[in-house]
Amino acid sequence: MFRSTGVSLVRAARSIARNNTAASVGSVRTKYSLPTLDYELDALEPYISGQINDLHYNKHHKTYVDNLNKAIESAVEAKSRGEVKKLIALQKALNFNGGGYVNHCLWWKNLAPQSAGGGQKPSEDSALGKQIAKQYGSVDKLIEITNAKLAGIQGSGWAFIVKNKENGGEIDVITTANQDTVTDPSLVPLIAIDAWEHAYYLQYQNVKADYFKALWNVINWKEAERRFEF
Ligand SMILES: [Fe+2]
Repeated sequence: MFRSTGVSLVRAARSIARNNTAASVGSVRTKYSLPTLDYELDALEPYISGQINDLHYNKHHKTYVDNLNKAIESAVEAKSRGEVKKLIALQKALNFNGGGYVNHCLWWKNLAPQSAGGGQKPSEDSALGKQIAKQYGSVDKLIEITNAKLAGIQGSGWAFIVKNKENGGEIDVITTANQDTVTDPSLVPLIAIDAWEHAYYLQYQNVKADYFKALWNVINWKEAERRFEF
C-alpha cells in the first residue's frame, strides 16, 4: 500500500516499474503491458466463454494497464514539479489501476485449459497438497470456504487463497474490495479469483454462484503449487 507522502508515492511507483519488465533504464522508461497468455481466449470453455475472456483481457485488463501507465507518468511529472498535492491525489489511481493490473496478471496465470491440467487438484504429496490436507482436510473443503467468501463479497472484489510466510506457511482465504490487491509482503497469493461482474455476467448473468462453482474446472493448481514453494 502506498504511504501518503509524495516522495514515497513516487518511490512506490518506481518500485513497481523496477519489479516488472518495465524497468527504468536511464531516462527511458518502458511501460507496463498485458501479459502473454498461456492459452487461447476460448480455451477455457465451456466454463469461461471466449467472449468473456476476450473482453476481460483485451478491454478490461488493457484499461488497467493503460491507466496505470498514465498514473505513473503523472506521478513522475508531478514529482519533478514538486506538486505534492497532485502526488497524493494520484494514490487512488495508482491503487486502483495498479491493483487491477496485478490482480489480473495473477488471474490469467491461475487458469489453464483442462487439456493443460486445468482443474486438476494438487497432488496429496506436494507441499501445497499436504498443507491443505492438514488445515482443511481436503481441497474440496478449501474450495467450499473460498466460494462462501466469494459469495459474501458485496459489489466488486477479489478472493485470494494465500500462504502466510510469517506463521509457518499457513493457508488463508481473504477478500478485498474493488481492485485492492494483496500488498502484505508476508502473504503470497496462491490463487486470485475475480468476483467482478465483468468476469462472468455475459455467461452466468446474475447466477454468480454457478460461475464460482464452474471456474474450479479450469484452475491451474500447478501454478498454485509453484507459488506455494516461495
Ligand atoms: Fe476482472
